[in-house]
Amino acid sequence: MSIGIIGAGGIGSAIARLLVGAGLKVVISNRRGPESLKQLVDELGANARAVSTKEASEAEVVFLAVNWSKIPAAVEELGPWNGRIVIDTNNPIEAPLFKPFPLNGKPSTQLIADMLPGAKVVKAFNHLSPALLESPGSEGGKRVLFLSGEHVDAKRKVVEMINLLGFHGIDLGDLEQGQLAQFPGGPLPGLNLVKHG
Ligand SMILES: NC(=O)c1ccc[n+]([C@@H]2O[C@H](COP(=O)([O-])OP(=O)(O)OC[C@H]3O[C@@H](n4cnc5c(N)ncnc54)[C@H](OP(=O)(O)O)[C@@H]3O)[C@@H](O)[C@H]2O)c1
Repeated sequence: MSIGIIGAGGIGSAIARLLVGAGLKVVISNRRGPESLKQLVDELGANARAVSTKEASEAEVVFLAVNWSKIPAAVEELGPWNGRIVIDTNNPIEAPLFKPFPLNGKPSTQLIADMLPGAKVVKAFNHLSPALLESPGSEGGKRVLFLSGEHVDAKRKVVEMINLLGFHGIDLGDLEQGQLAQFPGGPLPGLNLVKHG
């Protein structure tokens, strides 16, 4: 399964470290282009390659990890998605103001899905800091990650990946129910839950 990551900041690079650490290959992109990612891919090693955002978007599973206000520009020329999986790691709030963006009553991941027609969008990897994300197996157990989405087949693949990385995945249900893990608003973001046994 090919894996692309769009966004190489705190969350995108933490996810790249996790995937490479598990022996998986990744391609990763940012706004400034592959040259600017040389230090990161040197650190990640032979299983990582810096590419254009278009190339990263053509993987079978694509992580989207871009600041909320910059997502429309990041994705506007991507696609067709043809049923490929996009993992929405994003939260509708950003530094420096930390003022929530208006969602017009929709789940934030529904707004992402609306920008990616034909993609199977799964919300996951959005509720913990990059530092906690980078250590799935710690504190004597497996750190919990939540996922949600409308596509059962896509969620099955994502939860397999989550578990392979050493987390314990919990499916919250569809995107409406996934708002439990939406930040800001839901009760779950920031909770560092660890499953023992
Ligand atoms: N940080 C957290 O604690 C945290 C936790 C959970 C979820 N999240 C969510 O994860 C997402 C990413 O957050 P972050 O902390 O990783 O942000 P970040 O460190 O600021 O990184 C953002 C990344 O997005 C890239 N980007 C911006 N515009 C782009 C474009 N047009 N095309 C391609 N790439 C583009 C940036 O590239 P350049 O550097 O080249 O501009 C950068 O690599 C956000 O939606 C955030 O809400 C963050």
